[in-house]
Amino acid sequence: MSAAAARGAVAVPGRVNLIGEHIDYHDLPVLPVALDRRITAEWQAVEEPVVRARSEGFGEREFRLDGPLEPWPAGDWGNYVKAAASAARQRWPLARGVVLEIRSTLPVAAGLSSSTALMTACTLALLEANGIRAGFGELMEILPEGEYFVGTRGGGMDHAVVLGAREGCALLVEFAPVRATPVPVPEGWVFLAADSGVQAEKSAAVREQYNERRFAGQRAAQRLGFAGIRQALEQAGAAELRRMAEARLDGMERRCFLHAAGEAERVREAVEAMRTADAERFGRLLNESHASLRDLLAVSCAELDALTEAARQAGALGARLTGAGFGGSAVVFCLEEDAERVAAEIGGRFYGGRAEGRLFRAVPSAGALELIARAGG
Ligand code: GLA
Repeated sequence: MSAAAARGAVAVPGRVNLIGEHIDYHDLPVLPVALDRRITAEWQAVEEPVVRARSEGFGEREFRLDGPLEPWPAGDWGNYVKAAASAARQRWPLARGVVLEIRSTLPVAAGLSSSTALMTACTLALLEANGIRAGFGELMEILPEGEYFVGTRGGGMDHAVVLGAREGCALLVEFAPVRATPVPVPEGWVFLAADSGVQAEKSAAVREQYNERRFAGQRAAQRLGFAGIRQALEQAGAAELRRMAEARLDGMERRCFLHAAGEAERVREAVEAMRTADAERFGRLLNESHASLRDLLAVSCAELDALTEAARQAGALGARLTGAGFGGSAVVFCLEEDAERVAAEIGGRFYGGRAEGRLFRAVPSAGALELIARAGG
């Protein structure tokens, strides 16, 4: 614990996941990058135990830290601030409150983890204001759980990468126990984030579909006699599992199981491809991941299929939906020498020349903890 400062700022980036989709909640490894677009929380400590947060365009919210925390109606942005307070105070004593001024260069509702970035920024600000400098492991114990407060419960991928990413690297995130290993992105590899224009905000309907897939995969593994999909992969070979799934599972359970098993293998191969700078192979894996998310897990939509197809036709080596799907963004992979042409062609084919703000480079950037360390705090 360091002495509490009176004011400061923390910045937390958004993310795109390169590969490893819908498997973090099965405790299987994933490979996201943090963006250079961030949510910043400027904070000022106050002696009173209150949180007063203001976000340009979204208004002001205020609540006390020393009483029960009840969420505002679903969809209220202030719930992420309350979720932060609720998570932080379960673990640390928060004697002081904060005044928060939130700014963002990260598009909202585009599937780039703006809500996780907001909650994480508010948590870090509250802790800093109380003189508490928490580490990656401790934060990973409270943040993913803490999003329950707003009713969503994903895996830990988003929190891990927005906290732990390193500049110029993708982050291989493993779970149970959580571990983050930076994997340097080879020179000349370019990733683009491309917004499908379909808002996949965490509506009740999308949440239900997400959970349905999560539980179907879990049930499938149990039906085959394993504790979960990860245990299945640890205890049996890929070909054997496929045979078992085809013989003994059907419908949604079979498709979710096959997606997760295949995606876990693709992550392993993608890390190898990145380490050996094998761009063709990396791109092929992204395309296979998209096909699996579309055909097996059924989390794509017409716009994401059209967008990723436009990217491939424009000369991208790979393209896939990123994040939960049902809308949101895609990640496009190409080489530096093709990047401008690929972006221009996607701009024409998919965006009808109006790609401004919806198609941008996903520059592998530092996570919040590296940004704090750099600021010398
Ligand atoms: C959302 C969740 C993540 C992850 C992805 C799908 O973004 O927050 O934890 O499950 O969906 O890969």
